[in-house]
Amino acid sequence: MQMYDIIAKKRDGGRLTDAEIAWVVRGFTTGDVPDYQMAALLMAIYLRGMQPEETVCLTRCMADSGDRVDLSAIAGVKADKHSTGGVGDKTTLVCAPLVAACGVKIAKMSGRGLGHTGGTVDKLEAIPGMRMELGRQAFIGQVNAIGIAVVGQSGNLAPADKKIYALRDVTATVGSLPLIASSIMSKKLAAGCDVVLLDVKTGTGALMKDEASATELARQMVAIGEAAGMRTAALITNMDIPLGVAIGNSAEVAEAVQTLRGAGPADLTEVCLELAAGMLHLAGLGNREACLARAKAALQDGSGLQKLRQMVEAQGGDAAYIDDPGRFPAPAHSLLVRAPRAGFVGAMDTEQIGRASVVLGAGRQRKEDTIDYAAYIKLYAKTGSRVAAGDVLAELAANDETKLAPAAEMFAQAVQLVDTASPARPLIVAQVGLNL
Ligand code: URA
Repeated sequence: MQMYDIIAKKRDGGRLTDAEIAWVVRGFTTGDVPDYQMAALLMAIYLRGMQPEETVCLTRCMADSGDRVDLSAIAGVKADKHSTGGVGDKTTLVCAPLVAACGVKIAKMSGRGLGHTGGTVDKLEAIPGMRMELGRQAFIGQVNAIGIAVVGQSGNLAPADKKIYALRDVTATVGSLPLIASSIMSKKLAAGCDVVLLDVKTGTGALMKDEASATELARQMVAIGEAAGMRTAALITNMDIPLGVAIGNSAEVAEAVQTLRGAGPADLTEVCLELAAGMLHLAGLGNREACLARAKAALQDGSGLQKLRQMVEAQGGDAAYIDDPGRFPAPAHSLLVRAPRAGFVGAMDTEQIGRASVVLGAGRQRKEDTIDYAAYIKLYAKTGSRVAAGDVLAELAANDETKLAPAAEMFAQAVQLVDTASPARPLIVAQVGLNL
């Protein structure tokens, strides 16, 4: 087989065979296929697309390029979720414990922040002592003992995707639906769960800005999961507005705890309950109403919060921070952003707000940056809120005082004030593959 011929075939709109795709993925992972030829193929895929069968094969080959986690030693259904990334998205911290409290096992690998979006691993590492790397036996043992473990992604999970993603990042080929779908799903397949609920975000803070492309991405990922024998469905959820009011690692853990106590922001609570219900439904616990009722009960009776506490304790974290999130150290400096005039918050550029939180230190601008776990943006007004001139729109806080002014300027530019409020999109925009 020649890489030249494979590139030319895809350039001309042809369909790659399973053997060709397997050859390319293997060759690129081992280094036999050079970056420049792989980059040309990725651009051809970006421009020409892939047939569903090609995407399924690419996903399977990337999943098989490294370790496939074997969860067979864990009894019962293992459920996973995946968010395509958002701002203030602490849903895993809430819905994973709720699902575990309902008896469905959570053996989950999560990611770190990426670009303007936060990551579950960074948030959980804000809890002193928390270990996000567990050996295989400890991981499985913990899930069998308490029903839940959330850890960082193991080093050898879908290494082909890691290499391909790095190349896509510098060749303007990230935004290809089959490449995104196969990238995400290769890691989900390798992670070994039985069912997965995808939370595909759409809106100004999402990877997919418009609903049509978010829905198409969801469809492609659901098709890949189902073809591989993993029960898969997706909710398409609103990321026009940050979720909840807190953005920043320890502040988001505190908000997740508040939500598990039944006193969280309404939008975050609703999305978490819907995600939990979707996961329970996929795991075979009944229809949407029955599953939503179970998720709500786990929130109201405190068993979800208890699961989060148990997980933190099992992974070496100081559970006193879950009992009293007020223990998280406050940042040394803060600044209020005020409304320049009266009106309504008409729209928020949520990606820009996420970037402002990164500037504060809540995320990384470069790979080697360390995170300021205490840094946060707290929203006092969101889309639809009425404000008077001088009202506080947000509080920004960080340990490095020099970061406040540039972040505040970015934040102020991201919030548009208008004279008339317009109705917001629903939180759950659509769903794919759920027989509710
Ligand atoms: N997240 C991934 O893991 N892969 C992509 O291609 C895009 C987002």
